[in-house]
Amino acid sequence: MLQDHFGRKVTYVRMSITDRCNLRCLYCRSVQDWDFIPHEGIMRYEEMDYLINILWHEGVRKVRFTGGEPFARRDFIPFLEKLAGTYPDLAIHVTTNGTLIKNKIHLLRNLGLAGLNISLDTLRRDRFKQITGRDFYADVRKTIDESLSAGLRTKINVVALRGVNDDELEDFVTFAREHPLDLRFIEFMPIGGTCPWDKEHYWSARDIRDALKKLTPLVPVPGHEATQGPARMFALPEGLGRIGIISAMSDHFCEDCNRLRVTSDGRIRPCLFSDKEYPVLPLLRKDERNKEEIVRFLHDVTLKKPMGYMLLQALEARQGVHVCSRMMS
Ligand code: GTP
Ligand code: 5AD
Ligand code: SF4
Repeated sequence: MLQDHFGRKVTYVRMSITDRCNLRCLYCRSVQDWDFIPHEGIMRYEEMDYLINILWHEGVRKVRFTGGEPFARRDFIPFLEKLAGTYPDLAIHVTTNGTLIKNKIHLLRNLGLAGLNISLDTLRRDRFKQITGRDFYADVRKTIDESLSAGLRTKINVVALRGVNDDELEDFVTFAREHPLDLRFIEFMPIGGTCPWDKEHYWSARDIRDALKKLTPLVPVPGHEATQGPARMFALPEGLGRIGIISAMSDHFCEDCNRLRVTSDGRIRPCLFSDKEYPVLPLLRKDERNKEEIVRFLHDVTLKKPMGYMLLQALEARQGVHVCSRMMS
C-alpha cells in the first residue's frame, strides 16, 4: 500500500499518455512555444503496463488516462482493451475532449470502461471554435450522445470562465436536466506557466453556486458534500442529470486526496499544485529493470506528497502568480 506522511493512501492514479492535443484551448495552449515532448521521451505502452502492474500490486484500483488528448495517441484503445483484460478489478476511466471517438464508443463500452469524462466549455458552436481554436463542436456532442446511449458513466467538465461562458449557465442547467450525466463546473486554475489565469476570468465556486441557486433548487447529493473527491454534486429536481462544482481553488479537499499523477514522459507528480516531479522512466528503461527498486521509488515519492492547499495559500498570498509551470497535460 502506498501511503504518505499524512496517512493518505494512494488508490487512484491519473496517467497522462500524451502531451499532444488536437485542440488549442485558450486556457491551455502555450501561445508561441507549443513544443511537444519528442517521441522517445514518452512512456511506451509496455512501460505503462509494467508501472500499472506494480501500482495495482500496491493497492491502486482506479486509473484515469488523460492527455493532452489521450485518443490522439495511436493504439490507445487496444492498450485499454489489454489492460481491462488483465485487471478485471481495476476501474479504468478516461478524460477526453471527445473530438476523436465518435463511432468508437462501442469499443469502450465492450472493454468495460468505468467512466468517460468529456470536456466541453460551451454549448454554442461558434464559441466552441473561439475557445478551442477548432470547429469540432458537433463531434463532441455526438460523442456525448453515443456515450449515453452506450450506457457509459458520463461526466462533462466545464471550465467556468467569467466573461466567457457565464452567460450559458441556464443552458447548462437545462442540458444536465435533460441528460443522465454529471455536469461539473471546474474553477479556472493557475496551471501552466503560460496558462493565462487571471482574477478577471476567475469565477469562484461560491459565485457559481449562488448563480445556480437563482436558476434551480440544488439538492446536495449525500457523500459528495465534502470529502468525496474535488466535486460537490447536486441533484436537480426532476432532472435526469446532476450538477457539480469542482472547487480546487477555494476549497481544500487535500486531506482526503488519494491520487498520484504520472506525466506522459514518465515522471511521478504527487500533487497537482506542486512543481515537484520524480522521474520513474529511467528506472523503467534500465537494461536490467528492477521491480524492487521501482516499488521503493514509488513508496519514497508517495511519502513526499504535500498538502496542496498550503501551496495554494501561498499562491493566493502572492495573487495571480502561477504555482506550477507545467500544463494540465
Ligand atoms: P472523477 O474521477 O470522475 O472524479 O474525475 P476527476 O475529477 O478526478 O478527473 P477529471 O480528469 O475529470 O478532472 C476534472 C478536474 O478535476 C480537473 O480539471 C481538476 O480541476 C480537478 N482535479 C483532478 N484531479 C485533481 C487533484 O488532484 N487536485 C485538485 N485540486 N483538482 C483535481
Ligand atoms: N483550469 C481548470 N481546468 C482546466 N482544465 C485544463 N486546464 C485547466 C485550468 N487551467 C480542464 C480541462 C479538462 C480537465 C481535465 O481539466 O478542460 O476538462
Ligand atoms: Fe486539449 Fe484539454 Fe488542453 Fe483543451 S484543455 S487544448 S482539450 S489538453
